[in-house]
Amino acid sequence: MTDIWSDRRQAYVESDAHRGGDDLELLVSWAAGGRTALDVATGGGHVARRLRAAGLEVVTTDAAPGMRPDVVSRAEHLPFADGSFDVVACRTAAHHFADVRAAVREMARVSGDRVLLVDTVHMGDDVEQAEMLRDPSHVRNYTDAEWAGIVVEAGLVLDHVVFLPHTFDLAAWLARTGCQGEEAERAVVLLGERVAEGRLTLDKIAIRAGKGSEV
Ligand SMILES: C[S@@+](CC[C@H](N)C(=O)[O-])C[C@H]1O[C@@H](n2cnc3c(N)ncnc32)[C@H](O)[C@@H]1O
Repeated sequence: MTDIWSDRRQAYVESDAHRGGDDLELLVSWAAGGRTALDVATGGGHVARRLRAAGLEVVTTDAAPGMRPDVVSRAEHLPFADGSFDVVACRTAAHHFADVRAAVREMARVSGDRVLLVDTVHMGDDVEQAEMLRDPSHVRNYTDAEWAGIVVEAGLVLDHVVFLPHTFDLAAWLARTGCQGEEAERAVVLLGERVAEGRLTLDKIAIRAGKGSEV
């Protein structure tokens, strides 16, 4: 696999689209009561930072060594025993996974209690095309129905689904992946009314799922 992510670490640590957001608050509240957590595809480490601040012991994984995770690993093969963590979280990364079903199955396997997922939700073909122009490593944003299927197929019980609009700086979003010139112009056209006054709004889906009826 070509590692395009390792050189992007600083950009993702500083990213306004990643370092804050209501979804982070939600993840922290959904992790309450857990003692240990795994942050899958940690990127700039924002989920891990927030969960540690809330008192959890957190291990981070990412496929890119340059993201400096505790453990370098693809989400599709997590090198941990069954039920190793109370909470397994994965934020704004699943749309890059080659095999999202295998990844969520692995998250379910290594979780002892709950899996928390946040990602950009499917907003139609134009947004998908814009995402791919901006970052060819984009695989797909999934609809809420697709997410429900992925979660249930992994053997989890779907507990909560929340939709959150997420607004951030458009130029910084394009620059993070080096998208410029005609490709950037075309992406902005495809995004249509989601762009206003230099800011882009994409919708996120947040999912809380459990291993059983105790969630
Ligand atoms: C947008 S960043 C992650 C954002 C981060 N979770 C946050 O909340 O700010 C996407 C991350 O997914 C990682 N990644 C991409 N494909 C992966 C895979 N198959 N398994 C694990 N990590 C992967 C990249 O290396 C990158 O660090």
